[in-house]
Amino acid sequence: MMKKKNKRRIKIAGTGFYVPDKVLTNQDLEKMVDTSDEWITTRTGIKERRIVSPDQATSDLSIEASRIALESAGLKVKDIDLIIVATSTPDTLFPSTGCWVQKGLGAGPIPAFDISAACTGWLYGMVVAEGLILNGAHKRILLIGSEVLSKIVNMKDRNTCVLFGDASAAVVLEESDDDSGMLSSYWRADGNLGNLLSLPAGGTRIPATAESIAQDLHYLQMKGNDVFKHAVKRMGEAAMEAIKSAGLTTEDVDYLIPHQANIRIIDATGRRIKIPSEKVYVNIHKYGNVSAASIPIALHELWKEGKLKKGDIIVMVAFGAGFTWGAVTYRW
Ligand code: ACO
Repeated sequence: MMKKKNKRRIKIAGTGFYVPDKVLTNQDLEKMVDTSDEWITTRTGIKERRIVSPDQATSDLSIEASRIALESAGLKVKDIDLIIVATSTPDTLFPSTGCWVQKGLGAGPIPAFDISAACTGWLYGMVVAEGLILNGAHKRILLIGSEVLSKIVNMKDRNTCVLFGDASAAVVLEESDDDSGMLSSYWRADGNLGNLLSLPAGGTRIPATAESIAQDLHYLQMKGNDVFKHAVKRMGEAAMEAIKSAGLTTEDVDYLIPHQANIRIIDATGRRIKIPSEKVYVNIHKYGNVSAASIPIALHELWKEGKLKKGDIIVMVAFGAGFTWGAVTYRW
């Protein structure tokens, strides 16, 4: 069989990102729980994070990020034909946040839905969008990664409240007309380890009751040490698999964009796959862990700061609750 000369692939036509104005610093947290700037900085790399106002929800952030992404692609709302929101913190369990975003953008009646894959959600979205664009079902997809984690974290629990923040980032995806774009992907999950990082109540397993609230079961629960170990192993594995399936080696990689969960996980992932630290993008000090928003924010910043040049090879890799993990290689 003849090998196809030009592989069809999807590309990012525009990016946007939005964070709320309110900054919560490590010094602010010192006044709220028994912690210190020194502990948070050395154990996580985080210096500050953004926090929504009480009336802001995930779709509000998503709409702002989406408008910027559309503008950066030189497109209007009418030019997109599907909205996907990757989030673990939806406005409501239903309707989906995708539907609230569709309403806010005035994009009806195009389809809209959410992907629930925690911190890997936006990368899962890339794989889904690739399939939908390349099989001809959709032309231009708005893919958003968006979280309001401050509303599901117990602000009295020092083990978790220092780690997370609120943010949104969006990309517009369409078919590439040259050799730039998404080269390969790798995605996996292991539900056996779901209990190590979860939001136990509010679903059908433990519906909301006065008792579930009294037991703090509506807050994120995490076995930090276990998550840490799995994250390092799986992110290394995913990045290598995606690099290999693109026919590349780590030496070809210009930028590694790891999910920003903890500076020690980021550094360990880079070391594990032998990508030097100057090629590993880090912005965790500014936003903390913003789950599904983490990778598209980094991508947006790299692009807007003029650090990406045509032909650069980017590897994006994430790990999150589920557990889920995955990676995408991309030629800019
Ligand atoms: N300030 C001060 N001390 C603290 C704090 C804090 N904020 N939090 C915990 N400690 C204490 C603990 O109580 C413990 O004290 P003890 O020894 O007296 O019991 C001590 O610090 C050490 O705790 P560890 O949990 O062992 O600390 P570790 O070095 O593992 O760091 C951390 C904890 C930062 C949570 C780390 O395990 C981690 O980053 N894990 C990965 C978390 C992660 O990435 N989660 C998100 C995954 S993505 C997603 O899907 C959302």
